[in-house]
Amino acid sequence: MAARTAADFVPDTTDLDALAAAVQSCKGCDLYLDATQAVFGGGSATAEMVLVGEQPGDQEDKAGEPFVGPAGRLLDKALVAAGIDRDRIYVTNAVKHFKFTLPERGKRRIHKTPSRTEVVACRPWLLHELMALRPDVVVLMGATASKALLGSAFRLTAHRGQELSLSDDEATAGLDFTPRVAVTVHPSSVLRGPPSERDKAFDALVSDLGFAAGLLPRR
Ligand code: URA
Ligand code: SF4
Repeated sequence: MAARTAADFVPDTTDLDALAAAVQSCKGCDLYLDATQAVFGGGSATAEMVLVGEQPGDQEDKAGEPFVGPAGRLLDKALVAAGIDRDRIYVTNAVKHFKFTLPERGKRRIHKTPSRTEVVACRPWLLHELMALRPDVVVLMGATASKALLGSAFRLTAHRGQELSLSDDEATAGLDFTPRVAVTVHPSSVLRGPPSERDKAFDALVSDLGFAAGLLPRR
């Protein structure tokens, strides 16, 4: 039997609203079972740049919007510092349902990294989002997003500040356009790092975002 994936639930459309509605019925992997709701991407439907994170966190799961919690606030600051208007971009995640563990009763839910199987299962949503938006630039933030579209052997630290492309990877075989791609760390890694390293890590994130904005065509 073929592996279970979101492909059975993704409608054959590039209408972003139709995709966002359909994702709520996805059972492409088991993550829908415990999450509050699916969190689709959000932002400008005419965005030239799409940012891809890992998966919704605790607050995103409750709000139904991507990057509205602590990582989102850090990302907002980094976008401002890089001179990028969040209202003109689109932000999404490699995986659309929150994966977590409950360490003890009553304690807050702890983020758990999605497995390769879950990332691959969810990928059709991301590819359809990208085909709906057809952005000039895609920024993959963190290991999960970069491995989702660049293969499981991809090491992002070796490729920061480089222009990459998705065109020859099997993961993106269905994609019918070729965006420019840049990678950077996940914004939450800046928050998790040692306080003495935070400014440097933040500046590096800003620099990567600025590099990505520089890949946009001049109009
Ligand atoms: N981290 C992510 O990767 N995505 C979100 O939407 C929030 C936190
Ligand atoms: Fe579907 Fe993705 Fe949610 Fe799994 S995580 S159920 S593939 S939307």
